[in-house]
Amino acid sequence: MCTGKEIEKREVRLTDNIIETDVLIIGAGMAGLTCALSLPEELDILLISKILMPTGSTYLAQGGLAAAVTDDDSFELHLNDTVNAGGGLVDEIVAMDIISNGPKLVKKLLQWGAELEGSFGMGKSGIEGGHSIRRVLHYKDRTGKLISEVLSERCIERKNITIIEPAFAVNLLTASREMPELVEGAVDRCIGAHVLHNGTISTVLAGETVIATGGSGKVYRYTSNQDSATGDGMAMAYRAGLPLKNMEFFQFHPTCLFHPDKRNFLITEALRGEGAMLLNLKGERFMENYDPARMELAPRDIVARAIDSEMKRLGNDHVLLDASHLSREKLTNSFPEVTEGVTSVGISPWNEPIPVVPAAHYIVGGIDARTDGSTAMNGLRAIGEVSCTGLHGANRLGSNSLLEAGVMGLKAADSIPDTVMRSSDFHARDWSFGRAKPLKENVLLDHAWAAIRSVMWDYVGIVRSDKRLNRALRIIDVLADEIEEDYWSLLPVTGLLELRNICTVSRAIVRSALRRRESRGLHYSMDCPDTIQPQRDTIIKIIL
Ligand code: FUM
Repeated sequence: MCTGKEIEKREVRLTDNIIETDVLIIGAGMAGLTCALSLPEELDILLISKILMPTGSTYLAQGGLAAAVTDDDSFELHLNDTVNAGGGLVDEIVAMDIISNGPKLVKKLLQWGAELEGSFGMGKSGIEGGHSIRRVLHYKDRTGKLISEVLSERCIERKNITIIEPAFAVNLLTASREMPELVEGAVDRCIGAHVLHNGTISTVLAGETVIATGGSGKVYRYTSNQDSATGDGMAMAYRAGLPLKNMEFFQFHPTCLFHPDKRNFLITEALRGEGAMLLNLKGERFMENYDPARMELAPRDIVARAIDSEMKRLGNDHVLLDASHLSREKLTNSFPEVTEGVTSVGISPWNEPIPVVPAAHYIVGGIDARTDGSTAMNGLRAIGEVSCTGLHGANRLGSNSLLEAGVMGLKAADSIPDTVMRSSDFHARDWSFGRAKPLKENVLLDHAWAAIRSVMWDYVGIVRSDKRLNRALRIIDVLADEIEEDYWSLLPVTGLLELRNICTVSRAIVRSALRRRESRGLHYSMDCPDTIQPQRDTIIKIIL
């Protein structure tokens, strides 16, 4: 534990088939926890987490939280850096809204007990690619661990928050299916979700539902994300008819550890902020040839593409990150997570370079949402990585995501009291197991998981082409039909539900990528290398 103490939990189980709550929050990362803690204590909150807390991508976040809180910084400067990184697609009104709420979020974190270095005169902030000034607030390189642990503890202490874990939200419950009288004009309403817990599925009726399920790195073979990042919220919302926006923009983190015994371990960009250099296997500092002005601190899309190009040019499967100018003491004290991680596989970063490769890290696209999380469906919010507000445009500036997740959590909590309905007025059908049978052949799921992730890695990666994308779509379409057949005929288990979700999200990514007839930010197509005007968002939606 990063805070040095074990989190004490009360054991709570879903015992009834039908549960009523004021607010259902799905997901226990930065966004979900911030929202839960900021809602008025008069509201009953049910917080469900697919895996045991503290958890999620927040927990793994090393670098930090970008916020303009020092005298030499300003909201305008932060906005400028965000816009410059964002490939011409940042919504500046949205970005200013989120950036200008940064100091409020940092104060809240401090109140809750998560003290970040660099906030309000405490310690020194870090710097990452694309930031023109030090503004990344952090706790060594264990920022996410600290935030997750502290906020989880505060939630556990709160009487109005019931936490159920592990619990998996399967599908949203909508008025159009259950209570048509609540549909307003063409606008549907969410009235809760079906939730899998302890092998059974409960009907959770909620006055307001908040999706805070995070990202979908598991659609790719190599990712810095936890196993739980299977795009559940996006897939669930898409099935309910909500639009997904800009799904083609998937950020690959330039530097994940390349080692057979420890895959997908992040080597924080903050290390490059402290002067670590990228070298190809000939020992050349290749960023000179790609972005000589910004070198290793160029925005992530540029650095990841440069690494990809060097690996392909030299026929190598990785490059090197040299941090050996930093002393053992500095590395151990300031970067304990990275130092422990790489020394555990026999690498001494003060003596030798670290082998690294890019890996899928953050999905910029998601459920189309406003900064308070509100969506095209009444009673449904989407906050954090699962959403797409327009802050990141076509490429996320490092450490802007914890900022966005936290600010959206605060803003959603501020506005939910005005919109929340009484769940006791709602009703919905129970889950029907029909003639579903238990899964007997795990190989069916395992193969489909591996196939989707390989197709996405090989055909829908850092550099794309129409041929690869079309081939990917054909393969995923075939798998989707088989997965749907399994979904309807087998008893629901997490592995099957997650597979269905990564399939839905992969398809949305590929279809969005095929629609964007240009290269912009994180989407680079060999067939459409130019950027075209006017810039536009990609929207994918099913017609129900
Ligand atoms: O490199 C990092 O520590 C990652 C930061 C981020 O993705 O925001």
